Amino acid sequence: MEKKLKDLDKEALEKIKKSNDIERLEKLQVEFLGKNGKVTAVLRGMGKLSPEKRPVVGKLANEVKENIEGELKTRLNELKKEEEKERLKKETIDITLPGAEVSRGRLHPMQLIIGQLEDLFLRMGFSIEEGPDVETDYYNFEALNIPKNHPARDMQDTFYVEGDFLLRTHTSPVQIRTMEKQGPPIRIITVGKCYRVDELDATHSPVFHQLEGLVIDRGISFSHLKGVLIEVTREIFGEEREVRFRPSYFPFTEPSAEVDVSCFKCQGEGCPLCSRTGWLEILGAGMVNPRVLEMSGIDSEKYTGFAFGMGLDRMAMYKYEIEDIRHLWDNDLRFLKQF
Ligand code: DAH
Repeated sequence: MEKKLKDLDKEALEKIKKSNDIERLEKLQVEFLGKNGKVTAVLRGMGKLSPEKRPVVGKLANEVKENIEGELKTRLNELKKEEEKERLKKETIDITLPGAEVSRGRLHPMQLIIGQLEDLFLRMGFSIEEGPDVETDYYNFEALNIPKNHPARDMQDTFYVEGDFLLRTHTSPVQIRTMEKQGPPIRIITVGKCYRVDELDATHSPVFHQLEGLVIDRGISFSHLKGVLIEVTREIFGEEREVRFRPSYFPFTEPSAEVDVSCFKCQGEGCPLCSRTGWLEILGAGMVNPRVLEMSGIDSEKYTGFAFGMGLDRMAMYKYEIEDIRHLWDNDLRFLKQF
């Protein structure tokens, strides 16, 4: 019996050494130490031994059992380590490989110019106001001193919604809303969509964008207006640009002016972009009409102000040399990718 145990010990150790996977080890555990295992069978037979022999064989059997258990454990650990090594090898990442390319979106040219202008005005101490696209007759016309018979009020020019409501034809109503809300001093701009009845063609769109500015304080004069607008045109069209103020008329400003910038394409020589005049018209402006101030509850004896409104679609078209306004609305990626 002792020989049998020693043989089993040897057999088991050899088999354990040779086994190359964990499953095989589990089978060996059953084969030798399981309920019907080879070592277990020997232990069971111990009852037949003489009382003297019993403790000797029992001790040996336990030693063999412990030995096999120990070897199984050691080999199991070895195999687990190897397995882990293999796994790590497979999982290594080659950080020198180029990554998958993510295609990035970009800003619409309209948004580019809006962002640039907003930045500039914020730097000059303006804040940004908003107003609704659906306006009332009062804010869009009446409070801006636009008389009842003014052609802009015509159904041919203005989209009326229903009742007193209409789609704003310019951003100027935000001037009124701001004056009513906060009172002087005021230094704001607003940017937004405007609507006019117009056939869509290369240079006209029934929906377009305006940027409106309003400054009201004590002692504001036309020279302040000039200073701000020269700053703006040079920021957008370049430092070398000339700025020209032409007398004009708007019901809500007095005096009023239209502002041109010297053509950046031909340096004022005359070219197709500027219709051979050397100038590009970019905005309307003026000193706020005292009547408008009074209607919004501002004392025109104490306060003066200036206002201006520019068409941003036209500005983007000049700046980026876009020859058809419809490109701004088509959302054709081949076009948008150029900016
Ligand atoms: N609201 C005018 C338009 O749409 C533009 C304009 C002109 C705005 C003069 C002003 C201004 O604030 O002072 O044609």
